[in-house]
Amino acid sequence: MQATLYLISQSYVSGRRLRAVMDGICAATEGHAAAIRLERDGMGLWQALAALLAEGVRDITLRPVGLPFSQSLMTWLPGAAGEWLARPENANCRLWITDDASQDDAVLSALVRAPVTRVPIAPMPRGSAGKGWDAPPRHRHHVLVCTGPRCHLRDAPDLLGLLKAEISRLRIEDDCLVTATGCLFPCNAGPVVVVYPRAEWFRLPDAPAVRRFAEVVLRRNRPLPDLQTFTTGEPHEIA
Ligand code: FES
Repeated sequence: MQATLYLISQSYVSGRRLRAVMDGICAATEGHAAAIRLERDGMGLWQALAALLAEGVRDITLRPVGLPFSQSLMTWLPGAAGEWLARPENANCRLWITDDASQDDAVLSALVRAPVTRVPIAPMPRGSAGKGWDAPPRHRHHVLVCTGPRCHLRDAPDLLGLLKAEISRLRIEDDCLVTATGCLFPCNAGPVVVVYPRAEWFRLPDAPAVRRFAEVVLRRNRPLPDLQTFTTGEPHEIA
């Protein structure tokens, strides 16, 4: 069986809006289709490929979707998908990838000609400001959790959900300001989490690591050297 897997790169969009786009794309596709987002949340690329394989799909075409689609992601994707394909359990699957459809003038033309509704905008002093945006919430640890594409591939969204649940279970919500971020650079050491003001970087590869991190680093404020990868300001940053 063949399938198309749409890879959507879009950080700032609600889950509901994204779902509508994914459903629309899949419904417009002839044949079997699925869609994932490459950042922030949802199923990762390797998880999605494994799910299609479990459904009996053996020929998968990856279709990047973005207007335009990120050039750096376009360069990285064949390697990320190829790593999955290199595993012995996936040897009976064939993978393809297409180019970015937004390079096609017909796509841009269709976008420009699509029917849209125009609504008036009223003058609004301080219209860009929002309630609660004047200062950061009180916190002891600022925890930056990377949900960029390479950490997303390694289940960062699930680990972020677990980290929030652990923080809640340990009743340290008021101590922790958790921020999901884009790529923080050391992708090969991902999933990446950074804690300030401790200025310590961690790799949290699985659920037990997340639980230890929450207990030791965030609740007890103690070091966790076996999961710590870098310290801000140390020479590796300059090398
Ligand atoms: S994607 Fe997470 S560090 Fe690059």
